Amino acid sequence: MKNSKNDRAVLSIRSVSKSFGGLKALNEASFDIMPNSITGLIGPNGAGKTTLFNVVTGFFKSDSGQVILDGKNVTNHTTHKLFTDGLIRTFQIPASFERMTVLDNLMAVPMSQTGENLIFALIGSDKIKNEEKNIYLKAREVLDFLEITHLSEKYASELSGGQKKLLELGKVMMTDPKVILLDEPGAGVNPSLMRKLSSFIKRLNKERGYTFCIIEHDMDLISSLCDPIIVMAEGSVLAMGDIEKIRANNLVKEAYLGTK
Ligand SMILES: Nc1ncnc2c1ncn2[C@@H]1O[C@H](COP(=O)(O)OP(=O)(O)OP(=O)(O)O)[C@@H](O)[C@H]1O
Ligand SMILES: [Mg+2]
Repeated sequence: MKNSKNDRAVLSIRSVSKSFGGLKALNEASFDIMPNSITGLIGPNGAGKTTLFNVVTGFFKSDSGQVILDGKNVTNHTTHKLFTDGLIRTFQIPASFERMTVLDNLMAVPMSQTGENLIFALIGSDKIKNEEKNIYLKAREVLDFLEITHLSEKYASELSGGQKKLLELGKVMMTDPKVILLDEPGAGVNPSLMRKLSSFIKRLNKERGYTFCIIEHDMDLISSLCDPIIVMAEGSVLAMGDIEKIRANNLVKEAYLGTK
């Protein structure tokens, strides 16, 4: 059943432009991401997809346009501020604490958000003890969900590449994000891990209402996960719709052929 809140975009990108010297990497790009969607973002190499993520998450400053998160104007906010507001980008953040265990890595996520917890911890307040217990329980639940409970006491440095990806997804789950941006989650991932990641993404969306926006070149992955799909070319949005609509769109075909 529809209600007015769910009709509102959780992330709205409005006429965002960004140039590098004379090159218009983003040219008035606009689209909405609806809550509980898995939105796909595709387009030929150099279309501006990663630049868009960089602008939206505060890595680059836009030249013009607006980014609205959950009704709030967050244009050019810092990466940290956007993170605490629930806009998370992953599989590009390299940092797990290599000398910490998987469990501790998960438990460190909310701590790094508030910064105040450490002070309370030193004072030893009951509030913080409860909070820590909740964080611990949540971390255990995340490990269970991702089927990596057996890795909880391993150091992050001991994990395989694939296990590190799962840990990163786990860290995202610790934050209760509003929108998760994934830039080419399939890059460098073997097919069996990709199936696993893909099924976790699907379940997080269906069972827990997580919202994703995924940049990917792998059309099998896009078509099995994403609706709607947004196509960018030369810094602008060229088309938008479900996979059938995108496949039938002549402008989209031309955009891909034009770069080959
Ligand atoms: N930091 C930068 N400095 C200068 N030019 C940049 C920078 N980042 C991106 N560009 C340029 O902006 C354009 C868009 O690049 P972007 O990385 O956003 O494309 P993309 O759609 O993510 O492509 P791909 O699918 O290959 O990852 C390209 O022409 C690229 O060379
Ligand atoms: Mg890119």
